[in-house]
Amino acid sequence: EPEAGPAPVPRVKLVLLGDSGVGKSCLVLRYVRGQFDPNSKVTVGAAFMSHSVHLPDGTTVKFEIWDTAGQERYASLAPLYYRGASAAAVVYDITSKESFQKAKHWVSELQKNASGDIVIILVGNKTDLVELREVTPEDGQEYASRNDMLFIETSAKTAANVSEIFETVAKKLS
Ligand code: GTP
Ligand code: MG
Repeated sequence: EPEAGPAPVPRVKLVLLGDSGVGKSCLVLRYVRGQFDPNSKVTVGAAFMSHSVHLPDGTTVKFEIWDTAGQERYASLAPLYYRGASAAAVVYDITSKESFQKAKHWVSELQKNASGDIVIILVGNKTDLVELREVTPEDGQEYASRNDMLFIETSAKTAANVSEIFETVAKKLS
């Protein structure tokens, strides 16, 4: 009989979607490397990173993160990345109503075309820019609840709630 080895680490394919400039790449950089880049360059196509998270219950999950490009010219590539994903983080910038509208479009597209059991977390980023806020936490929470999604507000700059995006998703999937 084969010996029972350690249980395999579950993998979670997570895709980040959202308008250009909302901070998707900065959230990933903060989470994976603990850094912030004030001069972050626009993503071309998509970028891949993987990162393991140790959950409070002692289990480990390996995130395979696809950071997509938010510029309109890349919109048609998105299905390549969200297809087969078990989780999606749809990101907007709390200082931009327009980016919140764009996030709603991404949610509709996921509801139409992604796997029916995909876990979606709505992420309102840039909470450090309080004085410029255009989208209230209530707006975000209400939309998320109505669409059966998780919700969180973050700052890639200060690191507030960034690892919580991934922990919340992992918990929901477990
Ligand atoms: P695309 O790759 O074009 O889709 O954009 P993106 O969503 O990846 O944006 P990116 O992470 O490159 O960040 C865009 C700009 O916002 C950069 O100047 C960042 O430094 C800035 N930024 C990102 N997150 C935050 C944040 O939490 N707070 C503040 N103040 N600025 C941020
Ligand atoms: Mg980017």
